[in-house]
Amino acid sequence: MCGIVGYIGTQAATEILLAGLEKLEYRGYDSAGIATIWEGEVNCIRAKGKLHNLRSKLELVESPSQIGIGHTRWATHGKPEERNAHPHMDATLRIAVVQNGIIENYRELREELKAKGYVFRSDTDTEVIPHLIAESLKNLPSPTLATSPSPFFEAVRQVVGKLQGAFAIAVLSADFPDELIAIRQQAPLVIGFGQGEFFCASDTPAIVSYTRAVLPLDNGEMARLTPLGVEVYDFAGIRLKKQPRLLNLSPTMVEKQGFKHFMLKEIYEQPGVVRASLDAYFKADWTAANAEGSPVNLNIDGEIFSDLEQIQIVACGTSWHAALVGKYLLEQLAGIPTQVQYASEFRYAPSPITANTLTIGVTQSGETADTLAALAMEKERRQGKEAKYQVRLLGITNRPESSLGHMVPRIINTLAGIEIGVAATKTFIAQLMAFYALAVDLAYRQKTVTPEKLEYIINGLRQIPKEIEATLESQEKLTELLAHDFAETTDFIFLGRGINFPIALEGALKLKEISYIHAEGYPAGEMKHGPIALLDAKVPVVAIAVPGSVYEKVISNSQEAKARDSRLIGVTPIEDGEAAEIFNDLLPIANVDELLSPILTVIPLQLLAYHIAARRGLDVDQPRNLAKSVTVE
Ligand code: G6P
Repeated sequence: MCGIVGYIGTQAATEILLAGLEKLEYRGYDSAGIATIWEGEVNCIRAKGKLHNLRSKLELVESPSQIGIGHTRWATHGKPEERNAHPHMDATLRIAVVQNGIIENYRELREELKAKGYVFRSDTDTEVIPHLIAESLKNLPSPTLATSPSPFFEAVRQVVGKLQGAFAIAVLSADFPDELIAIRQQAPLVIGFGQGEFFCASDTPAIVSYTRAVLPLDNGEMARLTPLGVEVYDFAGIRLKKQPRLLNLSPTMVEKQGFKHFMLKEIYEQPGVVRASLDAYFKADWTAANAEGSPVNLNIDGEIFSDLEQIQIVACGTSWHAALVGKYLLEQLAGIPTQVQYASEFRYAPSPITANTLTIGVTQSGETADTLAALAMEKERRQGKEAKYQVRLLGITNRPESSLGHMVPRIINTLAGIEIGVAATKTFIAQLMAFYALAVDLAYRQKTVTPEKLEYIINGLRQIPKEIEATLESQEKLTELLAHDFAETTDFIFLGRGINFPIALEGALKLKEISYIHAEGYPAGEMKHGPIALLDAKVPVVAIAVPGSVYEKVISNSQEAKARDSRLIGVTPIEDGEAAEIFNDLLPIANVDELLSPILTVIPLQLLAYHIAARRGLDVDQPRNLAKSVTVE
């Protein structure tokens, strides 16, 4: 949710900032802007809409400035107009600020500043910051504190002490052209170390083309970047000793590599994600005959799993769907009652806990504000209770260096690699793999399933990568053809039952997100209790029908839809008999055990959504109104 980037060094800053913002556009694209310092002035250029609008404007401006900050916005306070675009400046146009997050007390700060005669040009919460810094600079005692590295740093530090909320900020001033200040308070910010050049950014893809030596700031830290190096301080102004580490990310990993969209590339990366997860989570030499210890290696001490009575999972969006599959696995395999809650709901009405309740937060980005707040609340309500309560917190994330990684000591890393498309695909598959590993581990610990059954499941999982490859190969053309027919459709229904009900939800969400077609996912058995009234020849129904506990039921529910003239699309391994008769179109998948099927059934649904959106000529990777990482409530 909003991306910020900063540069100080020996090269022209503008292109570096633009390239960085391009990699951060997944965080929002309502407007963009950059500020550089040239010939003693701040040069601030902003444009409504996507980055290319800003690029066009900048073509007319020549600035060899070697310092700058940039921002790509997802509008929170104030409409997506140019006057609300960042950077925001003080009255004298000497100080420029970019911010990601929310300044919760901005109204009172704004009133205080207005009373002193400050005039506001935008509706944003951010604009209070440059005015406050200007005010603070005016009132700074002279000489400044001996402990402070510079008056600019000191002025910014004093202002940070007045701000409430969750934010990451970068600031520069024409009066201090060799300093860039970066601040982190509950919104991500990483510092990059190059040769005589230094960076800050909301996320590593923005800087990986220039350096792999990075230092993620912690909450309550601020960095002073100069052409000579980087100093890190806490908000009290105490200098901290911090070392950068090497990033395991190459610039090509954040390129499209010949695919038309990141989303398509990421769909095709899924077999590799499953293979990486299998290698990491499951012990290669474990067999039922030699079942010494758990077949799973999650690198989590067993303490949090002992005497487990209940699991509650909090998540948002696609992660919530993965959690629903997780619930099925945890209950059916490990026999542990599991609840899945929207983080945004849970935080205001949490379920009661016992000492033996494990709370799991699932978030691919590790930055979703609601999930973080739910976990922070959970952590707090467990504090002061016996140790058993306190240890039972677990995070599942694709970004272990994220805020979630800082907050929760026990993490299962999902192994999707960086995902750029706003609609989650490979991170969803990676989350499913984490849940398979967790459920198998707990089933082993709880002894709810025989070692032979566990071996059967693990062997089945090992076949999945090549089944996904086969599905991708056979479905690419099929879904593209279907997309042709559905490009003008306005409503879609997705049906699934049991372990595939969450996949129906996910299929509908994917379609909504990127094609803007209204779509709903239902447990197939619920259709007759209302949604069936929506059906007619104009509303296609996608049904997930996998042999197992509910196959016949789904087929009957599909019949009911067919009787209302809906065009029926079947995601199923059964291509003959009744299935062939009912379904107008088939999206065939391999015949795998029902328990493993979600990893396969979701693939055609991802492809269908992708091709419909592409056919409609929409911006698949950056759908309107969405952001990949939602760092506001
Ligand atoms: C946003 C994204 C969704 C994502 C959700 C949760 O809404 O657009 O694709 O599923 O956030 O994100 P998380 O990072 O917590 O998994």
